[in-house]
Amino acid sequence: MSRPAPIGVFDSGVGGLSVLGELRRLLPHENFIYLADTAHLPYGARPGEDIRALTGGAVSELHSRGVKAVVVACNTASAFSLENLRARFEMPIIGLVPALKPAVAATQTGVVGVLATPGTLRGTLLQDVIHTFADPAGVRVLTAVSAELVPLVEAGQADSEQTRAVLRETLSPLAGAGADQLVLGCTHYPFLANSIRAEFGNTFALLDSGAAVARHTRNVLQNAALLSDHQQQGEVSYLVTGDVKAARPVFAALCPAQTKPLHLTALGG
Ligand code: DGL
Repeated sequence: MSRPAPIGVFDSGVGGLSVLGELRRLLPHENFIYLADTAHLPYGARPGEDIRALTGGAVSELHSRGVKAVVVACNTASAFSLENLRARFEMPIIGLVPALKPAVAATQTGVVGVLATPGTLRGTLLQDVIHTFADPAGVRVLTAVSAELVPLVEAGQADSEQTRAVLRETLSPLAGAGADQLVLGCTHYPFLANSIRAEFGNTFALLDSGAAVARHTRNVLQNAALLSDHQQQGEVSYLVTGDVKAARPVFAALCPAQTKPLHLTALGG
């Protein structure tokens, strides 16, 4: 592991691009390899064993490409795989937890909503943060789950009428119960912010973990003496396990502005 080596960023699909944007803002001199396991998404509907195996394979691929650390930019993969990955790899592995802490601090109504994939709801990480932050503060946490939203974002439909209809149905119970904070418990969901606001106005403040994870990544690299000392702007290369042609327009629309033009290739290609 060395300072000039790239940082690996992993997600099942385009969701981790919302985290990559924050990483690039905070660490502009770092190079990144972004790996999307598009051949196997959505992860949220898979058994935990599968998620662990797929995530292990992806991180191993990034490791073989010489990354100095990996950010698991996927709540579902983090929920099932972090311990396993940390036991297996020596490099720093940074994971995601839903942004419950700031939501609990900000709520005025005492009710916080969490929108997550079925996988993240099944994993123990979410329960852990609820016990750590919400329970002691007496804040009620209501969860909403959808298996449809990730595939809709992947299909370039983050702003479509169909997506808004799913959001209406999924989030109305939270609005009805008085939630004033909505934790976006999946890295695909920041891309739904416009649609959520179009449907619910300012009912909820929207919270995601991207900026906090970027800060944590910087601290971890700094403590390990692994921050890049380059002065020039870093670069990003993108790898997908599925169909590159299908992925290209969605990546082009969602990848952080400062990483264009897009270097997107098939894994092994
Ligand atoms: N971006 C992933 C997450 O944060 C989506 C998981 C999936 O593929 O269902 O959970």
